[in-house]
Amino acid sequence: MTADPTATATPDTDWYDRDTRTIAGVEKLRFFPQVAATGHGTYLITPSGRQVLDLSASWTASGLGHGHPRIVEAVTAAMAAPPGASLLSGTHPHAVRLAEELLDLVPTTGRHRRVYLGHAGTDANDVALRAARHATGRRRIIAFEHGYHGGLGTSMAISGVHIDAGASPEPDLTLVPYPDPYRPWIDPDTLLADTMALVQRHLADGDVAAVIVEPIQSDGGVIVPPAGFLTRLRVLTRQYAALLVVDEVKVGLSRTGHLMAHHIEDVVPDIVTLGKALGGGLPLSAAIGPASALDTPAASALMTTIGNPVSCAAGLAVLDILRDGALAHAAQDRGAQLTEALRHYAASDRPGAAHIGDIRGRGLAIGVELVEAGTKTPDPVLAAKAVLAGWHLGIIAYPVRGNVIEVTPPLTITHDEVTTATHLLTEAIDWAALGHVTDDDIAPYSGW
Ligand SMILES: Cc1ncc(COP(=O)(O)O)c(C=O)c1O
Repeated sequence: MTADPTATATPDTDWYDRDTRTIAGVEKLRFFPQVAATGHGTYLITPSGRQVLDLSASWTASGLGHGHPRIVEAVTAAMAAPPGASLLSGTHPHAVRLAEELLDLVPTTGRHRRVYLGHAGTDANDVALRAARHATGRRRIIAFEHGYHGGLGTSMAISGVHIDAGASPEPDLTLVPYPDPYRPWIDPDTLLADTMALVQRHLADGDVAAVIVEPIQSDGGVIVPPAGFLTRLRVLTRQYAALLVVDEVKVGLSRTGHLMAHHIEDVVPDIVTLGKALGGGLPLSAAIGPASALDTPAASALMTTIGNPVSCAAGLAVLDILRDGALAHAAQDRGAQLTEALRHYAASDRPGAAHIGDIRGRGLAIGVELVEAGTKTPDPVLAAKAVLAGWHLGIIAYPVRGNVIEVTPPLTITHDEVTTATHLLTEAIDWAALGHVTDDDIAPYSGW
């Protein structure tokens, strides 16, 4: 590749090398030598001053862009006069107001409802599942193959992505195939019906505390399920008195064009979990659900900084920004613009076009599936090469499920930035298809 990242030490490569020598973990989910010294809006800026368009939004944790002025203002004020740092043994207005607003914005079942405020999607899902087990007196969790719900504890042990990578599954776990219209696990004509029949069979076996589901399976490949999937899950879980936990950590908060991704169907879950974008770049998560589950010892997570006022102030600012629905509309418009431009590319005779197997998504949660030309065979090596090329060309986008490039930019991305982004992304796929990136170039990056 023309730009060999290790050829000469630059301020950017120097930081990356020092990270390698100091920051723990061999599997750091690195895809290219990404280093950012600062950021604003849709851009991250490297120490040497290079501006890179961030089409990941830090895996959606910077969902409203980097350094949104209203979040900066709220956080600065909260930090300057903090009412302590914890919710553990005393409350404060930021947490109470955030919980009230979440209860108002996110319908869930039950007359008496509560909000758990945590640090990350991982603990929100952990708490939700522990609470569901406690409330139902049952043990079994039904989750979906290749799903992602967290990186520790129960959340990790029910996540198909981790189990695929060798993690030990939770003993009382049943994994069911997610209904993937592009790669159906069964006859495409009966995909939804057969998936639901399978879920029903497992529910009927008994002892199921909860079914946990992503409304779009994100790290599993940005898979948009067929219409009616969530509605039918709701009907079945109600029939068997299991809790329906909808994990909105990645695609919630307006990314799909709806405040919650599951609002596309007329579904009221028992528990909804949120994270990532909720904190506007700070660690913050929530589980919203019935008091009968969340007001139990099983739902407590005694971590000192849960409900941290600065994070809660950021969360309040995020909800305030989303309130008028303008960013949900923008997500629809910019998502349509991005998808259309990518489809135009896929239909062209450019070098990478034949490698586009599928383009799918909703709003600004988009997946571009790369395959061997003219087949449906996944091409994860090509995807690894394309995202590395993308970094050198000036975009950040990561692959999920190996061969799917995930595009989840900040919801604040502009029309012109989408034009630039699609130009650079398609160029990167062309570079990879033309062999401008070698196996040696991608070898240093652990990926998933
Ligand atoms: C759907 C979903 N749930 C939960 C999580 C875990 O969130 P966190 O990494 O903030 O713990 C993720 C992270 O990617 C996710 O995509």
